[in-house]
Amino acid sequence: MRQIADVSVLRQALRALPGRVALVPTMGNLHEGHLTLVRRAREIADTVVVSIFVNPMQFDRKEDLEAYPRTLQDDANLLKAEGIDLLFHPPVQTIYPASMETHTRVEVPGLSDIFCGASRPGHFVGVATIVCKLFNMVQPQSAVFGKKDFQQLLVIRRMVEDLAMPVEIIGVDTVRESDGLAMSSRNNYLNAEQRARAPALYAALKHTADTLREGRRDFARLEQEATRMIAEAGLKPDYLGIRRATDLAEPRQGDRSLVILGAAYLGLARLIDNLEVDLG
Ligand code: PAJ
Repeated sequence: MRQIADVSVLRQALRALPGRVALVPTMGNLHEGHLTLVRRAREIADTVVVSIFVNPMQFDRKEDLEAYPRTLQDDANLLKAEGIDLLFHPPVQTIYPASMETHTRVEVPGLSDIFCGASRPGHFVGVATIVCKLFNMVQPQSAVFGKKDFQQLLVIRRMVEDLAMPVEIIGVDTVRESDGLAMSSRNNYLNAEQRARAPALYAALKHTADTLREGRRDFARLEQEATRMIAEAGLKPDYLGIRRATDLAEPRQGDRSLVILGAAYLGLARLIDNLEVDLG
């Protein structure tokens, strides 16, 4: 595995590597969720590139950006063991050489303005911009993303479609702890007592999915019930929505492919999760 920070070195290294390239973009502090994406990339491509870049443009709060865990050496060891080819970890000056405020941006309107986009203004512009830039630098045939960040996955799919980017986007199921909590770097912010409460978010999503499968379609009521479950467990609900899985539009009674998205604050962490429900 080669570790590269410079774009021209990256391009040169890629020219020497054969076949199909898959990219796995990350912000590092890798866990089993990330490694599952890496393994999928390995299956579908000859060359696997993982990027680690804590992208300042997608953080709406400076404190979050500064507190974000940076564990490059541990991450590199994990990726080496997975047999990837290139680890690309550019410094901030390489990605944003001048001011970030005047840097070109990629915006996916509509999808970016709800749920996580409403709670974190500008977040998805930052995500779309960095993913677009990484695609231009690496020029992969495929890129792998987690469904854990379901809205992010849809934003990227829309960007790729709208801008005719020749990249196949692959979504991988959420990897969870044994009690259902979705794996996340942010789980490290939880103390033992908070960690014990954290699975309540997934439990509320699961309860809602079961209820939909039993035939209930009073979406607004179901959202209220799930929100109450989360609050009663001691989390502070941010949003909870039942939406169409394809585009996050409000569902109609006959829609079959739904997703339940939720986010909640717990101590210093903001947990997000979602569950797709296929009603057949
Ligand atoms: P990061 O939070 O590091 O996540 C990198 C990738 O890992 C994303 O595609 C995310 O959905 C996936 N992932 C995280 N936890 C997961 C889990 N428990 N199961 C499955 N997949 C999981 O998402 C980002 O970074 C950034 O926004 C990025 C796309 C890199 C742009 O900066």
